[in-house]
Amino acid sequence: VWESIPALNAELEAFEQLLHEQFKSKKNISSYLDRLSLGIIKSGGKRLRPAMTISAAMLGKYERDKALHAALSVELLHTATLVHDDIIDDSPLRRGSPTVYAREGVNTAVFAGDYLFIKSILALAGTGLPVIYLEQLARATEAVCVGEVEQFRGRGSVPGIKTYLSRITRKTGFLFAACCAAGAHLGGLGEDAVKHATRFGSSFGAAFQIKDDLLDILGSKKTIGKPTGNDLKEGIVTLPVLLAAAKDADTKALVDEFISDLDNRFDEIKIRAIQEAVIRSGSAREAESILKKYISRAENYRGKLPRTTGNEMLSFIMRNTFKEYM
Ligand code: IPE
Ligand code: IPE
Ligand code: MG
Ligand code: MG
Repeated sequence: VWESIPALNAELEAFEQLLHEQFKSKKNISSYLDRLSLGIIKSGGKRLRPAMTISAAMLGKYERDKALHAALSVELLHTATLVHDDIIDDSPLRRGSPTVYAREGVNTAVFAGDYLFIKSILALAGTGLPVIYLEQLARATEAVCVGEVEQFRGRGSVPGIKTYLSRITRKTGFLFAACCAAGAHLGGLGEDAVKHATRFGSSFGAAFQIKDDLLDILGSKKTIGKPTGNDLKEGIVTLPVLLAAAKDADTKALVDEFISDLDNRFDEIKIRAIQEAVIRSGSAREAESILKKYISRAENYRGKLPRTTGNEMLSFIMRNTFKEYM
């Protein structure tokens, strides 16, 4: 993905090496957890958060060692949340491979997620970041947790758009914001620029989650490497579906009936009926236009950042992530 932008690609290769080095323990128990961790790490992943952190650091004066440790920390944190998220979402597939949860069971997946999380905190120590950025990362982690719990407790009901937007900001926006803030700080940027970078990250993250939620309805297992329709199967209503339900009483009834009974999750015909209603009503398009709003917000903040190599990289990441919508 990143080959066409050599300066970023070189850093991500160094990052990849550093990432793998974290799991080379000789002790028996940890080597078991290392093997599990390496399994998910080697299975792929776009490395978007590291790319973002490194690019933000390149907005200013780049200090490789610190930036790579910050990138390491956010990717480990992200991976930890995915391992736990797959338990919560009862998901069999991640990055085209069986999840830790599906392969090893719930207990082991809890341990593996915790282990990755601790590795993330250890990596933070190598960044030399001041306490306010550590706090921001901790707040982002807290937000993921709160966002996921809120979504879990809201299973089986159709959220309003405000609830949905606050959920995705927590689940995904905060972490991208923290990546950009930490990177920008390490690049030596001033307070205002760090603020713009933070808002860029937060808007990017919200757009990213909307796209992910749209793909759960419109995508295919082959292209996204995870099951489709899984949100609905878990009783979770995302943007395109909530818009369709708000527009049409029959669709609302269809959705309510589906999410009220977990046994429906095996009923592919009902899922398809909801997917079709979402598309037919124009709600998928409407969700896309909200997504585009977040994209232009992100672009607007990027425009306020220094016009350096890092900015070109952020622009590349934007286009690469949202090409269909820009
Ligand atoms: C998946 O994130 C979780 C969401 C926030 C939607 P990514 O799509 O960045 O996952 P990987 O790391 O590339 O697998
Ligand atoms: C993002 O939400 C999960 C986290 C922020 C941990 P999803 O549940 O939609 O992510 P996927 O679709 O499983 O990757
Ligand atoms: Mg999930
Ligand atoms: Mg998803």
